Amino acid sequence: MGRLQKLPPYLFAALDAAKRRARESGASVIDLGIGDPDRPTPAELIRVMTEAIADPACHRYPAQRGDADLKRAIAGWLRRRHGVEVDPSTQVLVLIGSKEGLAHLPVTCVQEGDNTLVPDIGYPVYAQATILAGGTPRTFRLRAANGFLPDLDEVAALMDDRTRLLFLNYPNNPTGATADQGFWRRAADLCARRGVTLVNDAAYLEMSLDGLPQPCLLGTADPARERVIELHSLSKMFNMTGWRVAFAVGHPELVEALGRVKDTMDSGVFTAIQRTAAYALGPDFDRLLAGVAEPYAARREKLVPRLAAAGYEVFPSRATFYVWCRIPGNEEAAAFCQRALSEIGVVVTPGTGFGSGGEGWFRLSLTASEVDLEEGARRLAGWT
Ligand SMILES: Cc1ncc(COP(=O)(O)O)c(C=O)c1O
Repeated sequence: MGRLQKLPPYLFAALDAAKRRARESGASVIDLGIGDPDRPTPAELIRVMTEAIADPACHRYPAQRGDADLKRAIAGWLRRRHGVEVDPSTQVLVLIGSKEGLAHLPVTCVQEGDNTLVPDIGYPVYAQATILAGGTPRTFRLRAANGFLPDLDEVAALMDDRTRLLFLNYPNNPTGATADQGFWRRAADLCARRGVTLVNDAAYLEMSLDGLPQPCLLGTADPARERVIELHSLSKMFNMTGWRVAFAVGHPELVEALGRVKDTMDSGVFTAIQRTAAYALGPDFDRLLAGVAEPYAARREKLVPRLAAAGYEVFPSRATFYVWCRIPGNEEAAAFCQRALSEIGVVVTPGTGFGSGGEGWFRLSLTASEVDLEEGARRLAGWT
């Protein structure tokens, strides 16, 4: 079977089609399904971008692996925000969104017959990129009883001499689970013992509900010595999902390998966007971030008690803009979500969209307006 044929079907396709049909029929649909910020990019960043876009120096091919200024800004941000020291010239690589970096990582190291370890529940790109590179994803479960962290003994049992990458994602989509430094140390030690590269997808790292930095892999493991790489993104950090800018930071050999793959695949991020990203990660970072992250905390504080009062069990979370809820009774996630759409016009995401481990759960996103969240909560509360 060809690699393309091995890709699993897109699990949200049926729900997307049902959502479209419901809208076309004139139904009032509240969409709490997608994790895409409803609010605009901060005005200050738009101003920086507007100036940059008028500069002809930005109109040429960009610095392919990232502008030196942006890479220095990334290193400075990591030092101030997370206490991490890295060499911007060898340990930082600018990406066209973290999805791009995640999708290309297996190309750097996975050969036919190799495997990677991916979480079930998890963002589908880890497994699909492994398949496209010719490898086999092996899944490990994330369970509620363990705070949706993996059991590292179970992960160890899946490792063999063909295991190349362990993908983790904390703060986690879809559960909102977070990892502490002790966990990162144990995961990095396991990978070091077994010669496996540890990857953390940190796309939601700054979506912290108390405004305090969450522990990240790089804050625990030493990326100068250990084979670790972490992918950060400005997408959710600054309501910039459409801009496509992110970065990888890690061991110099891993960063170099990913850079080499990308040299063939793309020509870097638009220079005007790189300049804006350097500004965003500079001295004004804390102030800019506060304006972005605070509304989610307020939305969660309003929504979660209402869901809880209506009998929904909500996984307690301190990060991301997702709310992870248990489905009442024994109904399957896909059926529950289809019914929510057809009976009360509310779109929520079935947990099984992230793997079979998500059975029995659904995900709500706080990236909808206060009015829509209020109405969504009202409809869900009077129903099941
Ligand atoms: C867990 C996770 N990782 C990575 C991404 C990709 O983010 P981006 O490519 O916009 O940086 C997403 C997007 O939704 C995500 O949910």
